[in-house]
Amino acid sequence: MNYSEKMLRDDALKGKTIVVTGGGSGLGKSMTTYFLELGANVVITSRNLEKLENVKTELESETGGTVLPVQCDVRHYDQVEAMVTASVERFGSVDVLLNNAAGNFISPTERLSANAFDTIIDIVLKGTKNCTLAFGKHWIDSKETNKTVLNIVTTYAFTGSAYVVPSASAKAGVLAMTRSLAVEWAKYGIRFNAIAPGPFPTKGAWDRLLPGDLKEKFDLAKKVPLKRVGDHQELANLAAYLVSDFSAYLNGEVVTIDGGEWLKGAGQMNLLEEVPDQMWDMLEMMIRSKKNKS
Ligand code: HXC
Ligand code: NAP
Repeated sequence: MNYSEKMLRDDALKGKTIVVTGGGSGLGKSMTTYFLELGANVVITSRNLEKLENVKTELESETGGTVLPVQCDVRHYDQVEAMVTASVERFGSVDVLLNNAAGNFISPTERLSANAFDTIIDIVLKGTKNCTLAFGKHWIDSKETNKTVLNIVTTYAFTGSAYVVPSASAKAGVLAMTRSLAVEWAKYGIRFNAIAPGPFPTKGAWDRLLPGDLKEKFDLAKKVPLKRVGDHQELANLAAYLVSDFSAYLNGEVVTIDGGEWLKGAGQMNLLEEVPDQMWDMLEMMIRSKKNKS
């Protein structure tokens, strides 16, 4: 058994319909693939319908599941409402909303135009709000229960991060929304949780966060105590658990899956990892020799 294997039993998501925003690429596509393998129907949405239709063909033949591709720019509430309607018309009801769509790029903040900052906030925070509000209203009005919203954030939602300030601000907002609605909408039978992934290589993220030589210059695996980046199946395993009924008592939680990366940056003395083993005898001696001398 290892971390790239599939974790849940075959029918874990049977009968569920799951909407994955940004489901046509990267982590959204990996999670979609596993949800289909576990028996769910999946609605994949993004701005690019042609890409979504190709992914539908690929994943239906690979998994035997059913995919509905819907073009929807999450920044526009009218498009989100139309996506809710199309999903419900096709499958009768939707059980899970996975807010995965995102926009991001590195930049010194002072170089950003007001519109550049807005663009990221609009995709990440407003997009998550649009989808959550549209599905929430639909579920509450139709008195459907046992619903789940899973939001993909990042570890810099807790810490903030230089050079991705719009994304950090927006993801922090998404985390606050997750925790707030976990309490407010529990009475309607809607659970909210989040995943904070560390580095999981995808073309979308790597092209915008590590363009050109930066990929070689900053090996992200080195920042992780476990000395590796994440495997997409590990994230898909966690997401499948969080949207399944096995996690029915989990509400308002954010699960970090980053090999310990953000804590390594946070712990004040973590830099002592650089001290070679053979130096510790000497350091211990130096410390002990100071006893009762100050
Ligand atoms: C400065 C930039 C810029 C850049 C765009 N802009 N790129 N400014 N540096 N590199 C500015 C534009 O000039 C414009 O402002 C405004 O931003 C909007 O740009 P558009 O290209 O018109 O926007 P749009 O076509 O909507 O594209 C959105 C996008 C793009 C975010 C810029 O990159 C995109 O489509 N991204 C989607 C996928 C993605 O980002 N995936 C990565 C997620 S990774 P002006 O003022 O000129 O009009 C992630 C990982 C987190 O979230 C943690 C990892 C460890
Ligand atoms: P990705 O492949 O670039 O995924 C982003 C997706 O969002 C794309 O499918 C894109 O599709 C969609 N999207 C962007 N703007 C949209 C809009 N306005 N409306 C609808 N869809 C839109 O990147 P990824 O790495 O898989 O990221 C997935 C999620 O994981 C994001 O929330 C990201 O912040 C998070 N995350 C990733 C990492 C990592 O290491 N990869 C780490 C932490 C968090 P279209 O372009 O077709 O619209």
